[in-house]
Amino acid sequence: MRMTVIGTGYVGVVHAATMADLGHEVLGTDIDEERIAALSSGTPPVYEPGLQELLQRTVASGRLRFTTDVASAARFAPAHFVCVGTPQQPGAKRADVRSVEAVVDALAPHLGPGDLIVGKSTVPVGTAARLAERLRRTAPQAGLAWNPEFLREGFAVQDSAAPERIVVGVTSEHDEEVLRELYAPMLRVGVPFFRTDPSTAELVKVASNSFLATKISFINAMAEVCDAAGADVIMLAQAVGADSRIGPRFLQPGLGFGGSCFPKDIRGFMARAEELGVGGAVAFLDEVDAINTRQRTRTVELTGRLVGGSFADANVAVLGAAFKPDSDDVRDSPALAVAESIRRRGARVRVHDPEALDNARSAAPGLQYTLDVPKACEDADVVLHLTAWPEYRAIDPAALAPLVRRPTVVDARHTLDADRWREAGWSLHAPGRPQPGE
Ligand code: UDX
Repeated sequence: MRMTVIGTGYVGVVHAATMADLGHEVLGTDIDEERIAALSSGTPPVYEPGLQELLQRTVASGRLRFTTDVASAARFAPAHFVCVGTPQQPGAKRADVRSVEAVVDALAPHLGPGDLIVGKSTVPVGTAARLAERLRRTAPQAGLAWNPEFLREGFAVQDSAAPERIVVGVTSEHDEEVLRELYAPMLRVGVPFFRTDPSTAELVKVASNSFLATKISFINAMAEVCDAAGADVIMLAQAVGADSRIGPRFLQPGLGFGGSCFPKDIRGFMARAEELGVGGAVAFLDEVDAINTRQRTRTVELTGRLVGGSFADANVAVLGAAFKPDSDDVRDSPALAVAESIRRRGARVRVHDPEALDNARSAAPGLQYTLDVPKACEDADVVLHLTAWPEYRAIDPAALAPLVRRPTVVDARHTLDADRWREAGWSLHAPGRPQPGE
C-alpha cells in the first residue's frame, strides 16, 4: 500500500522505514530541508541501533522516499501518519499540539473520500475528536484515527518491527480495515490488535507511560527509605520484583527517568485531567515527578558532601550525558542535569559520553567534554557514574585509581561491580545501599 509519514523525527523515521521494510511504498515529509536531504541519502537524524542499515536498505529499494512538499505527499497516498512533536508548553504542564493541528490543516484540502489521517503523536485525550471536527469542515469524507507508538529509544527499530501491541482508535469499519491492511504482516504473526475509540487510544499511551514512571519513582522512593533505614534497595527490588504480580522490569532504582516522553507525558496528563475536572485522580503523578527530580538533587548533595562541603576547586568527572544508554538523546537527561547543577555550584565538571557529546555540548555548553574516560577522570575528586553505558562496567578501576585526586565514585545507576571497585581502593557510594561498615 501507499502511505505517508508527516514529521521525520524519531518516531516518524523509524515508522516510515519499518513500514517500507514491510513492503509498503512510503513517502516521508518534513519542513526541515537539511533533514530531508540527509534522509534521502540514508542518513538518520538520530543515533539508534540498526536504524541506519534499515534506512539505507529501504531507501535503496525505492520504497522509501522523502520530500519537503506536504501537498504532493497528501496526493501520494490514502493514509497519512502524523508523527510531529508535541512538546511541553514553556511555563506550563500541558502539551503543545499546534504542529499536529498544522499538519491536519495542510493535508485537509487535498484529501478525498476514504482518505485517512492517522495520529501517532502523543496528545492530550480529546485531541483526535477535536481534530476530526476540524477536518469535517474541509474534508468531510476523510477519516481520522489515533494509533499511538510505544517505541523505546535504543530499541526503536526492534519495537517498531515487532511491537507488543497495536492500538488503533477509530470511528469506522473502513478506517479499521485500512489500518489492519497496513499492519497485516504484523497481525499475521500474532501481534495483539486493540481496536478502541480515539480517546481510549490516546489514553493508552499516557496511561502506559504514567504507570512505568510511577514504577520507577516507587523504587526510587524506596531507595530513600533504605538510605534512612540502612537497608539495601537493590536486594529489596529483586525480592519485590520476584512477585509475578509486580515483576522486576522498570524497578531499577537510580537517578530516575528522563528523555523526551516520561517527564512531559505525565505533566501533560495532569494538565489534561485538571481540564477534565478529574485532576485529583492523577494528582499522584505530581509526587512521581517530585520523587524523580529529587534523585537528581540527592546526587548533587551527596557529591557536595564527598568533596568536603564546597564545590569550589573541586574536579568532578561525569560518566554519561545521555538520558539512558544506547541513546544520544540528552532531552531532560538526569545525568546532564546533575552535571550542570554541580557546575553552577562552582565545580569544574568534565563529562564523558560515547554517543551524546554533540547533543550535550549544544544543550549545556558550559561543561567540559571528552571522548576519553581516563581524561574525564584525570585529577577528579569524585567520579559520578550517571548513565549506565555498558562500557562503564568494563572500566578497570585499578587502572583508573592512579589518575584521580581521590578514588571516590558515586554509582547512581547501580551497574558498576561494587566489590571490584572497592578492592581496587575506591570508596564507592551507591544511593539506597549501605556503605560497607555502616
Ligand atoms: C519511553 C517508553 O518506554 C516508550 O514506550 C514510550 O513510547 C516513550 O517513552 P524511552 O523514553 O525511550 O521510552 O525510555 P525508557 O527505556 O522507557 O526509559 C525511560 C527512563 O526511565 C530512562 O531515563 C531510564 O534510565 C529510566 N529507567 C527505566 C529507570 O530509571 N529505571 C528503570 O527501571 C527503567
